[in-house]
Amino acid sequence: MITKAIILAGGTGTRLSPITKTINKQLLPLFDKPMIFYPLSVLMLAKIRDILIITNKKDINSFSNLFGDGKNLGIKINYMEQKKANGLPEAFIIGEKFINNKSVALILGDNFFYGQGFTKRLSKNKKLTNGCKIFLYKVKNPQDYGTLEIKKNKIDAIKEKPKKSKSGLAITGLYFFDKNVVKFSKKLKPSKRNELEITDLLKVYKKKNKLSYEFMGRGSAWLDTGSPKNLLSTSEFISTIEDRQGLKIGCIEEIAFNYNWINAKQIKKRIKYYGKSEYSNYLKKLFPNV
Ligand code: TTP
Repeated sequence: MITKAIILAGGTGTRLSPITKTINKQLLPLFDKPMIFYPLSVLMLAKIRDILIITNKKDINSFSNLFGDGKNLGIKINYMEQKKANGLPEAFIIGEKFINNKSVALILGDNFFYGQGFTKRLSKNKKLTNGCKIFLYKVKNPQDYGTLEIKKNKIDAIKEKPKKSKSGLAITGLYFFDKNVVKFSKKLKPSKRNELEITDLLKVYKKKNKLSYEFMGRGSAWLDTGSPKNLLSTSEFISTIEDRQGLKIGCIEEIAFNYNWINAKQIKKRIKYYGKSEYSNYLKKLFPNV
């Protein structure tokens, strides 16, 4: 059973420069909340409560100001530094102690997931103790992602930003790994762009016949946040759904309360911390007796 997860929230955010020259990408707004609320809420929905946030040294304070040690959300959050954007698998080397020889999930701090049945899908896959599980999403621009090529229902190849992809299936930024992930990551060699590549790590699992996948259907959303246009269109998507339903996507206090991890008093504290805002008003409306 997976009880631990890493949110990787470092990187350089080059495509969003100059915005990201001084601000960490994962702290930028996706409509009404910082980007990191969304991947964090995905983990919370999956009832994964032991979380490590890995980010750049200069940003650790900002994230810990937002979430503290996680107690106010009924979870546990630790923070560690990644010195340079040396690639995604470095998360497992940095997080070795935290992982403590257990299975672990990794979610990228800039990934936005949404859709019916997503929580169920996560809960089901949490049971993983052997191998690696990835989630695939059909996209128009597979050349921008790592892709999985499939032949006769079997994995044919894993490609990093291929010029052409037959499947058009991007590998999303959510991964479930067994405890071998640390050992395998340590053995990886940097690629031509001088990074440890997640696709190379997946290839290790594939070679051992231990890589499996699931499709995220067309009724779900996996949106990009990496370029100015994408940042805006993802914000608009969130705004549209929230406006229509009067419900918020990625409201971490709401999730914690619904799971009975926090009480009304703790919600009150969060409202006070956020101050007068639309987000606070939403919490007040949800919990009128607070
Ligand atoms: P990328 O989109 O690959 O890189 P980036 O966020 O730095 O942006 P750009 O491509 O515009 O330069 O990163 C995906 C996610 O992983 C993002 O949330 C940042 C994070 N990341 C790290 O934390 N450390 C790393 O070494 C890398 C490569 C990415």
